[in-house]
Amino acid sequence: MNLIICNDYESASKVVANMISDSIKIKPNITLGLATGSTPIGVYNELISKYNRGLISFSNVTTYNLDEYIGLPIDHKESYHSFMDRNLFNHVDIKRENIHLPSCDLNDLNNNCIEYNKMLNSTSIDLQLLGIGANGHIGFNEPGTSFEQETFIVELTNKTREDNKRFFNSIEEVPKLAITMGIKNILDSKKIILMATGENKASAVKRLFSQEVSLDFPASCLNLHNDTTIVIDKEAAKFILKNEL
Ligand code: GLP
Repeated sequence: MNLIICNDYESASKVVANMISDSIKIKPNITLGLATGSTPIGVYNELISKYNRGLISFSNVTTYNLDEYIGLPIDHKESYHSFMDRNLFNHVDIKRENIHLPSCDLNDLNNNCIEYNKMLNSTSIDLQLLGIGANGHIGFNEPGTSFEQETFIVELTNKTREDNKRFFNSIEEVPKLAITMGIKNILDSKKIILMATGENKASAVKRLFSQEVSLDFPASCLNLHNDTTIVIDKEAAKFILKNEL
């Protein structure tokens, strides 16, 4: 794994946005895997700014998102469909038909997983952007998930629901289930960038670099991938900088 330590959230966002925009310039019809959560918002703002300055176009870009909550209407402000529209898609020239997120239509959840997985297996993600949960989850692959797992319905842990409560009025409103790309789908990406910032990610970052590869810590699967770059800020690098690995 390559490691880039930046001064702060802003510079980490710029570094990741530059990596993505350079990839779009090299391959305008690139397939991107995209993430939600608060971490990538600065990256998306940078990409929108580059688009507004005429530096990049999304007109031939295809995207696949990692995950979506089950049980939220698609137009709920915290659905990942709404999140992506608000934070990226509504502001750039991406074609609607090139945007893919898991469908959480309650009538056909199992089939939705199968269909999303089929789409993923029929394409190849050139560049996958990831955040990381404090418990090491990537996408919504919670601790214990097999590294062979493909797209599935996941029961969110209490820790993840607590962490994501800040976006909702109360813990009761946080969905208990989601559809997520599996770890196998993520590892199938040609290149992966994981971004982590802030002190609350420092322990997860420390564990990521501990050489441990274990199902208890899903992000540790990235040790098995041959082109992963971790971009963190100084706060998330706290233990690395103190040499406390
Ligand atoms: C959610 C998403 C993950 C994301 C994580 C961390 O659980 N499913 O993809 O990495 O949140 O979010 P944040 O960036 O807000 O810390």
